[in-house]
Amino acid sequence: MTIHIAAEVGRIADTVLLPGDPLRARYIAEHFLEQVSCHNEIRAMYGYTGAYKGHPISVQGTGMGIPSISIYATELMQTYGAQTLIRIGTCGAIDKDFPLREVILAKAASTDSSMNRHIFGQADYAPSADFILLKTAYEQGRQRDLPIRVGSVLTSDAFYVDNPDWEKWSRYGVMAVEMETAALYTLAAKFRRRALALLTVSDHILTGEKLTAKQRQQSLNDMIELALETAIA
Ligand code: ADE
Repeated sequence: MTIHIAAEVGRIADTVLLPGDPLRARYIAEHFLEQVSCHNEIRAMYGYTGAYKGHPISVQGTGMGIPSISIYATELMQTYGAQTLIRIGTCGAIDKDFPLREVILAKAASTDSSMNRHIFGQADYAPSADFILLKTAYEQGRQRDLPIRVGSVLTSDAFYVDNPDWEKWSRYGVMAVEMETAALYTLAAKFRRRALALLTVSDHILTGEKLTAKQRQQSLNDMIELALETAIA
């Protein structure tokens, strides 16, 4: 076990889905996986291992923000040997005309966090998705006629921001804001593993418009299935 994950080494699959919300990890285990066992309850950051269409898959909650996902991603890769990490989360669109419910396949993640400055000093590292995972998710999404879009996102350290300049990020091609992907991509590169983030647009940062609970559940179900089909393709 590690400090944050109780599983014995060997009990976590090579492919791990990473929702921020631990209750979503439980939901995925209960509704999408077979032969499930719970491998983590430490801090109620639930993790499960089971099978999807006969393929071993784990799902581990990560919590919110860069420090939290960094702990789980590091321990999964360093101690448990996880090879493929797929974040499934939500994001807030910056452009007010961007459709809610669209799933962004994050090809790259800029960040306002100083995390990579600790590694690279004043130089800027470019956290990016694994190309084959991205291509597979795109093809699977198109086959299922899902509303998907490939684009870049901003991983922010703060949910509540004083005087944000969203318009500038949007001018530079950033579609949405979330709080974890840049860390996941950077750590996957460090450990030479594959990572991808799938992000449902759940709200509009500028207008405050949000998905209803029902729309949110349907979109999340579509995204979970897309992540699972990508994982086994
Ligand atoms: N995730 C979903 N919506 C978000 C928002 N508005 N800001 C940051 N992360 C988010």
